[in-house]
Amino acid sequence: MTPVNIISAIHRRISVRHYEPRPVPEEVLQSVVKSGETSVALDDDIRIRFHLIEDGKLVSEQMTFLTGGKWLFGSSPHFIIATSEEKPLFMLNMGFRMEQMILFATEQGLGTCWIGGLFTEKRMGTFLGLEKDERVIALTPIGYPDTSLYGRIIHGLIHLGSPDSRKRKRLEQIAFGTNWGSPLETQDDELLEALECARLAPSWVNAQPWRFLVNGREIVAAADASGRYSSVRDGKHYYRLDVGIAMAHFFLAAKEIGWDGSWHVTGFDPVHVVKQYAIPEGYEVLGIYRR
Ligand SMILES: Cc1cc2nc3c(=O)[nH]c(=O)nc-3n(C[C@H](O)[C@H](O)[C@H](O)COP(=O)(O)O)c2cc1C
Repeated sequence: MTPVNIISAIHRRISVRHYEPRPVPEEVLQSVVKSGETSVALDDDIRIRFHLIEDGKLVSEQMTFLTGGKWLFGSSPHFIIATSEEKPLFMLNMGFRMEQMILFATEQGLGTCWIGGLFTEKRMGTFLGLEKDERVIALTPIGYPDTSLYGRIIHGLIHLGSPDSRKRKRLEQIAFGTNWGSPLETQDDELLEALECARLAPSWVNAQPWRFLVNGREIVAAADASGRYSSVRDGKHYYRLDVGIAMAHFFLAAKEIGWDGSWHVTGFDPVHVVKQYAIPEGYEVLGIYRR
């Protein structure tokens, strides 16, 4: 289920950290969950679930004392918690799928915020009554953004503490030609638009670990696996989640533009790709988009 105006949703989406108390109509909540459940997968063999918790208080109570408070995420009327089977591509796949749901919610005028920290997996897993091999990956509040003076003050205060959250790396820093670091020389406005949408993706502490190499009709996605914030916790590679999100932006924007390409995450030899594109140590090849 792809939103109609995906590119405009990508440009509009921000992390919303304070919400109006009014509930979201049941059918809208269900349509958001459905957009996640029917999202395009990178690996169809990985079972994922989106758990809608209509009484948001039940989730915010499980979060850390400060962040779960009414002044922050505790203001959200509802939450959606994303869980996945643990398989080799599970983080990349979840980033790709959950972001499709986040953008659908944005299209409906709803606020969201990827939350990867601020909770312990064990506690949230117990709350959900998870099956044995199921991991809690992330959650998002879901509700109407609080645009009142109070809501805007809270938003402003949070941004004072994280002034870089709206900033993104320049396109030249994340998209190269056929060799690592070589300039992307292209007049292809459609390609530039899709890359711009990838550039605007949200990421853990805004680390933006994605890099793209363009070789004709092939685009390689790589991840900075050694950056300051490229953390791995309890077997969860957060930078892969981020790159999955940027790949979703690229894929959906390209689709809206009219391309019928897709990301391939298996079926290539990463060692060969690293050599071919001179990808430096510390970076991981995660996918190849073919038009
Ligand atoms: C995987 C992931 C995890 C995140 N975890 C948190 C979090 O725990 N708490 C929080 O306030 N924001 C979290 N964020 C939101 C980022 O800080 C935010 O996306 C980034 O600063 C860019 O800002 P924007 O989303 O408003 O464009 C997370 C984002 C992603 C993609």
